[in-house]
Amino acid sequence: MIQPREYARRRKQLMRMAGNDAILILAAAPERVRNNDAHYPYRQDSDFHYLTGFPEAEAVLALAPGRTAGEVILFCRERDAERERWDGPRAGTEGAVSDFAMDDAFPIEDIDDILPGLIEGRERVYYHFGRDVDFDLRLISWVNRLRAQMRHGVRPPHEFVALSHLLHDLRLFKSRAELALMKKSAQIASTAHRRAMQATRPGLNEHEIEAELLHVFRRHGAVPSYEPIVGGGANGCVLHYRANNAPLRDGDLLLIDAGAEFGCYASDITRTFPVNGRYSPAQRELYDLVLAAQHAAIDEVRPGRTFDAYHEAAMRVLTRGLIRLGLLSGTLEKNLREQTYRDFYMHKTGHWLGLDVHDVGDYRIEGEFRVLEPGMVVTVEPGLYIAPDAKRVPARYRGIGIRIEDDVIVTDGDPIVISDGVPKDADEIEALMAAAR
Ligand code: GLY
Ligand code: MN
Ligand code: MN
Repeated sequence: MIQPREYARRRKQLMRMAGNDAILILAAAPERVRNNDAHYPYRQDSDFHYLTGFPEAEAVLALAPGRTAGEVILFCRERDAERERWDGPRAGTEGAVSDFAMDDAFPIEDIDDILPGLIEGRERVYYHFGRDVDFDLRLISWVNRLRAQMRHGVRPPHEFVALSHLLHDLRLFKSRAELALMKKSAQIASTAHRRAMQATRPGLNEHEIEAELLHVFRRHGAVPSYEPIVGGGANGCVLHYRANNAPLRDGDLLLIDAGAEFGCYASDITRTFPVNGRYSPAQRELYDLVLAAQHAAIDEVRPGRTFDAYHEAAMRVLTRGLIRLGLLSGTLEKNLREQTYRDFYMHKTGHWLGLDVHDVGDYRIEGEFRVLEPGMVVTVEPGLYIAPDAKRVPARYRGIGIRIEDDVIVTDGDPIVISDGVPKDADEIEALMAAAR
């Protein structure tokens, strides 16, 4: 649980960074209609959640640093017995103040009358332009209204600044409470992966294994943090495979990339295991290579190393192994220089993880890869994908897709792997699967 005072601390910090001559404006995620009056599941906007913990749509947060009548202002839906009978309870403006520690709250219907007055006299507006075109237009209309009154002494803002610069740097560093939620999210996902491994049998369909994952997520109050990838055999070579509707074949591997979202925090885990419970020799050779690359990469997730150091480490181990197994030829240095591994490994070794699965935050600062610091969380996810029609590759390796992905906290010492509740050592996976047979 993130306490109201932690949200308040984040808002304070953001306001301090923006300065007293600025105003910051954020909108809640809109509800999205799937068809007629059926909606997509509601998920609060991550930035809005980070600053409020407020779970409702139709809300706008304005932060007006230094405003004596209250710096933190929320516009939200009013209580409405009739609507609440259909859609469930709302906080209302009173709840926004009493339960969410807002300084002030107004009905969202009054925003056109009130927000221009809050913008008036501020030099800079921090805002996410381009994220919600309807809201962009409303903001422009409020500013234009101020501009039209300039000859009456009204002072419109002069500058519009991307809010992401300040806010996303804050989100990159996770607090103790955030890390606790991320651990829980990774634990739930680990449990789901274990259950999927134990349920897998030749002849079942990919979607039946997906159901095992979803069962564990929902049992623990989580939802998927992205559409799970459940790909048997060569489907594991399709990086964003989501059809999850093919039968599982004896002798194939099954690649599962699935993460939970708990309390809005994502986990992101991949395991690749044999449908029949035993890796073939060829599968095992590639698997152990990916695992060695992952171990080498995780060891680089340390403060002071650059973000790309762990990708470099994975690349080096994979390239050396691909030469040894006969998938690449020539010297290690020449292959590294020419990045020949790209035929078999076409993505980076990881990304920031947090409220979003591909979380926010710059990877480079002034062109240089950023240095890892304690409190950051990354995924480490090397893989090998040997296309079924790959040329100049020993036939025994074709159609094998493998990825191993864990979630790792940067500390001031050794990396902490928070997704270690599911095995990744091949022998341990085989033992876990055998125990269920
Ligand atoms: N599941 C998305 C990723 O691994 O980046
Ligand atoms: Mn990932
Ligand atoms: Mn993933």
